[in-house]
Amino acid sequence: MKLAQVLFSQGFGTRRECEGLIASGHVTLAGRVIDDPYVDVDTDGLVFGVRGERWPYHARALILMNKPAGHECSQKPRHHPSVYGLLPPPLRRRDVQTIGRLDEDTTGLLLFTDDGALIHRLTSPKRHVPKVYEAACRHPVGDEQVQRLLAGVTLLDDPVPVRAAAAVATGEGADGLHGLRLTLTEGKYHQVKRMVAAAGNRVERLHRSAFGALVLPDELGPGQWRWLDDAAAISPAA
Ligand code: URA
Repeated sequence: MKLAQVLFSQGFGTRRECEGLIASGHVTLAGRVIDDPYVDVDTDGLVFGVRGERWPYHARALILMNKPAGHECSQKPRHHPSVYGLLPPPLRRRDVQTIGRLDEDTTGLLLFTDDGALIHRLTSPKRHVPKVYEAACRHPVGDEQVQRLLAGVTLLDDPVPVRAAAAVATGEGADGLHGLRLTLTEGKYHQVKRMVAAAGNRVERLHRSAFGALVLPDELGPGQWRWLDDAAAISPAA
């Protein structure tokens, strides 16, 4: 692939802007400035530099973020900054989308991709991809509540009961809130908060710790993100 085409595909601007970036000496390959936009490069394992920043080539973008609280999963946020603002401009320009959404006040594992088919596969209710949520609840989480969540609760606008694939009380935290780990295989609007409310409790804080086989790494701080190389690390169904 021509170097200018590589930059264009990775979100560095229009074709003309990418050619300009290269011709004006802002792009490196293996540490050497390359100012010919039309040089052929092998994209397999390619890492290039733009204005001193290192960029691994990805035919498709797949990003894991630790979503901080106070951010909306929307391109046009209404009340809070957007999670998209936490990504660098080339990724925004590639038109990555979140794979499902988290509420503004929910933290934790959030995925982005520019692969529409992957979004469909990972969010389809038919695939049953499990998501694990750590809820901090106002009231103690008793056995009866856990059993109700496992058996299925009815949400206000939906007559079909929804059940948790797993529900475990995880004990009282230092903040006096009561832990509940819920595993869901669907992604209905405010599902955890509404299920917990239907079971007679209230979610005060919510964090997603896992999506499919992928667990949020401890070292990824709030607002930080990293590339994922293989969607199969999320789910074999992907
Ligand atoms: N369920 C919720 O209630 N909120 C989220 O952000 C995710 C799941």
